Amino acid sequence: MSRVLVIGCGGVASVAIRKCCQADDVFTELCIASRTKSKCDALAASLAGKTKTKITTAQVDADDVEQLKALISGYKPDLVMNIALPYQDLTIMDACLACGVNYMDTANYEPEDTDDPEWRAIYEKRCKEKGFSAYFDYSWQWAYREKFEQAGLTALLGCGFDPGVTQAYCAYAKKHEFDTIDTIDILDCNGGDHGYPFATNFNPEVNLREVSAPGSYMENGKWVEIPAMSIKREYDFEDVGPKDMYLLHHEEIESLAVNIPEVKRIRFFMTFGQSYLTHMRCLEDVGMLSTTPVNFEGHEIVPIKFLKALLPDPASLGPRTRGKTNIGCIFTGKKDGQEKKYYIYNVCDHQECYREVESQAISYTTGVPAMCGAMMLLTGKWNKPGVYTVEEFDPDPFLDALDRFGLPRRESWNPVLVD
Ligand SMILES: NC(=O)c1ccc[n+]([C@@H]2O[C@H](COP(=O)([O-])OP(=O)(O)OC[C@H]3O[C@@H](n4cnc5c(N)ncnc54)[C@H](OP(=O)(O)O)[C@@H]3O)[C@@H](O)[C@H]2O)c1
Repeated sequence: MSRVLVIGCGGVASVAIRKCCQADDVFTELCIASRTKSKCDALAASLAGKTKTKITTAQVDADDVEQLKALISGYKPDLVMNIALPYQDLTIMDACLACGVNYMDTANYEPEDTDDPEWRAIYEKRCKEKGFSAYFDYSWQWAYREKFEQAGLTALLGCGFDPGVTQAYCAYAKKHEFDTIDTIDILDCNGGDHGYPFATNFNPEVNLREVSAPGSYMENGKWVEIPAMSIKREYDFEDVGPKDMYLLHHEEIESLAVNIPEVKRIRFFMTFGQSYLTHMRCLEDVGMLSTTPVNFEGHEIVPIKFLKALLPDPASLGPRTRGKTNIGCIFTGKKDGQEKKYYIYNVCDHQECYREVESQAISYTTGVPAMCGAMMLLTGKWNKPGVYTVEEFDPDPFLDALDRFGLPRRESWNPVLVD
């Protein structure tokens, strides 16, 4: 028996909500609240009669803490699932603290306005001190640790696939396969084709900010930063085939380096096709990825927001995307004094996802872990007061839930390593 408030009703939230409704013994009551209430109503209507979960909807501007507090104190949920955008992480955490409710999200905080001088001063100091220049980092949300501890509440950060499942894979490798882990390579392959020359498979603004940023990896406790897309490897992915992949900065590297400190090197690679990269470079060169407002014929517009309006809605890619994703982690290390390697990953088919939940595999591979993470919190398996990332919890019940709800693990003890 639980009451859950989901904030956001986009591509990822729609999958998470549909999957919650498959587990209606746990998710007995659900309120879907977002900026555009009509989307919540349409999703609720499409689920009517198909689940025992009692669904209500609400309108909320999640940038406004007072609106959030009114909504949360009125609905009285056991958990708030933030599946809006990373821009809303802090306001929703504030409201959860004020109302005494547990919190979770799928991506760590970054500000919508990166020109805000107050934020920029802290950001520039962090770039110098830590050595990576992505707009997002954990410091903002880790600053809430004491407040959540004192309130006896749990905040679970970054419970999608990557971040999320990839960290559970690391915790699993540490618990069952290794005494010490030396290296972790996280490999995110999307072998899907939607037929458009250029489209992003989750929120375009967040996606393009992430992939156009300099890459970085952790080596011997230090960040090494490189120009965007300057380290490229080819990898032959099971059920997908050979793909070019590029080293990116990614948020879970930061928490894994803290929580598994013995690891000597942690890298993250993502596959991209030539068409995507050429379009992205061109858009960047002409200033279309900028978050700084420009005046156009008397109107103030933010270039990347205007671009988002032109690009296909990621939620509309479902029916046209064919192919598979293959995401996982390759480890090297030692067990009982012997050198060892291990690969744990999931393969997910875009069309199968569409048949099940009317969405492509990127939203599916994020929405299912969000639902399984919520299930861990609601069933008391992952509760401890404070602010945590996924690798800080027992991976076993979470990976069992993923096996059961559509993202089964595969394993190999002899993978090809990335050089
Ligand atoms: N961990 C992972 O593996 C992973 C992978 C992919 C994505 N993600 C994360 O998942 C989250 C959702 O991504 P998505 O692709 O589903 O994005 P999306 O399709 O753009 O959906 C975002 C939703 O949030 C709502 N929203 C935005 N601002 C809001 C506000 N101020 N108040 C209330 N609602 C607001 C939007 O409402 P409107 O309908 O009004 O726009 C929309 O319903 C993002 O944080 C993304 O970074 C994580």
